[in-house]
Amino acid sequence: MRTIEFTDTTFRDAHQSLLATRMTTDEILGIANVADKIGYHSFEMWGGATFDSCIRYLNEDPWERLRKIRKSAKRTKLQMLLRGQNILGYKNYPDDIVEKFVFLAVKNGIDIIRIFDALNDMRNLRTAIEATLKSGAHAQGAICYTISPVHTLELYIRNVQDLVEMGCQSICIKDMAGLMTPKNAYDLVKAIKNRFDIPVQVHAHFTTGLADMAYYAAIEAGADVVDTAISSLAYGTSQPGIEPIAYSIEEMPDLKTRINFDLLPQVAEYFREVRSNHKDTDANIKGIDIRVLASQVPGGMLSNLMHQLAAQNKMDKYGDVLREIPRVRKDLGYPPLVTPTSQLVGVQAVLNVINGERYKVIPNEVKEYIKGFYGRPPAPIDPDLKEKAIGNERTIDVRPANLLPPVFDEMKRKLGNLAETDEDVLTYALFPTVARNFLSLRYQGKIGVDFSLVEEMEKISSDIPYYPV
Ligand code: CO
Repeated sequence: MRTIEFTDTTFRDAHQSLLATRMTTDEILGIANVADKIGYHSFEMWGGATFDSCIRYLNEDPWERLRKIRKSAKRTKLQMLLRGQNILGYKNYPDDIVEKFVFLAVKNGIDIIRIFDALNDMRNLRTAIEATLKSGAHAQGAICYTISPVHTLELYIRNVQDLVEMGCQSICIKDMAGLMTPKNAYDLVKAIKNRFDIPVQVHAHFTTGLADMAYYAAIEAGADVVDTAISSLAYGTSQPGIEPIAYSIEEMPDLKTRINFDLLPQVAEYFREVRSNHKDTDANIKGIDIRVLASQVPGGMLSNLMHQLAAQNKMDKYGDVLREIPRVRKDLGYPPLVTPTSQLVGVQAVLNVINGERYKVIPNEVKEYIKGFYGRPPAPIDPDLKEKAIGNERTIDVRPANLLPPVFDEMKRKLGNLAETDEDVLTYALFPTVARNFLSLRYQGKIGVDFSLVEEMEKISSDIPYYPV
């Protein structure tokens, strides 16, 4: 009898995908102690967008959010999503910042760190994986799932091999746009399970309507954990809802779950109300969008794109942009579309369509990408585009962070009185402008923070072993 486990994404990916990441800490805390009893494997509750949104829109300290959730949910593992060497941001950071960030995230309550790189350039995961292992947390290595002529089963297996060799304790197949069909999910999970003795978790989005079926096929192939959200914040561009999947599993003679079904309706009802607090940012995507199978645009990017076009009164170009995205992606060597490559490709595609001429304007970030400062693309970059974008300028082929000197101490000096903790220095290192505003307001006493919780974190140990070991 196999137990299938669930990571609940309601506190992170679900509202990032559906509500522009505006869920507040109080909204989470209003139900966290109930959700804690459902029997989830973990709560995914921290990541780049939630961190950014806390200081940019909500006037909340993201570190304090972590501590408060840790305090009210002690049975469920806390999980975060880390963009490898990009940490929570959009560019490579020096190793000292990555190491310090991982260490403090774990100290403040994180149990599992899911680490990925947008290009699946495994060199960009090494520092974060090593730091996670050193800090005693669980290192989950993720491969970004995408479709292209170069993304074969063999390539993914090589990626997984690298992750295993670096010490990852579980593998996540991260399907940002919901592109994975049941067959491909089955084949990929089976191939990994045949080769490696390691837990496999699947993360998908419901965007195309495939995710439920893909999960089921993945479970049949041996997947151990799937990512779901509570039904009222599931579907659309979010994760599949947990209820029908857990219900279906329970009926199978060889499978079971640890889910307490009695609590699910209460939590679903709670988040229906939370969702109604956020009508202004609710993209309110109905049903599924099968065009995504061609464009591969992930959930978060889709709502950004619509915002961007609506702001410029160019919603009529939406279809053109969706068609341009795969062409730009091909020119750039088929990067999977996930932060930050989704932004690079998305912005370039919008520019190409709105200017009426391809690559008339090339943003600096795209030039940096072409030079190799994000890592190694899965396939070579189109030579004409390269010539047009950077001419004879120098490109690099080393791990980009090799070229970055340590900066933590300098950042700390720069911040002066505004930094009350090392956590503050990291907030500043990751989001300098927004963090300075935020920390100034806090310094002036306009935003409260309870530092006594910091001590408490040391005493709360989550002693549930990682399942399945
Ligand atoms: Co996601």
